[in-house]
Amino acid sequence: MTTSHTVSLSDEQRRHLVDQARSAQAYAYVPYSQYPVGAALLTASGAIYTGCNVENASFGATICGERTAAVKAVSAGDQDFRAIAVVTRNGASPCGICRQVLYEFGPEMTVIMADEAGQISWEGPLSDLLLHGFGPKKLAQGQKAAGE
Ligand code: THU
Repeated sequence: MTTSHTVSLSDEQRRHLVDQARSAQAYAYVPYSQYPVGAALLTASGAIYTGCNVENASFGATICGERTAAVKAVSAGDQDFRAIAVVTRNGASPCGICRQVLYEFGPEMTVIMADEAGQISWEGPLSDLLLHGFGPKKLAQGQKAAGE
């Protein structure tokens, strides 16, 4: 059985999140890709954490905009993710690593993708982007089954 209740947002919340993500995109450090990403993450507390991608000369050390926002939230004590807006030049979708990191703290959260003009290209549940995701609950079940 699967459960999926999308977190619904008001028009005002949606617009505000996208605007925050657009503002955050301006801080992206992207000398290698020239592909700036901005994110704005809403938690259950009502706080919004913004993020941008931060690249590195050692390419693998690059952190995406979504994960910047996620680690800001968790490191501020906010672990209950409700929604994230992601802004890119072309309204693209979050990468697989970011989907997995978001799933840890918000398996039922809403994802909004938008372009730099604020035009929304997709909105829906994270579980649509990460089908049959693996998270803390699955791990705990498996550990229980093993009698640990
Ligand atoms: N990027 C993100 O910030 N988020 C994603 O979900 C996709 C990719 C960044 C990483 C890199 O700085 C640039 O976009 C090109 O891959």
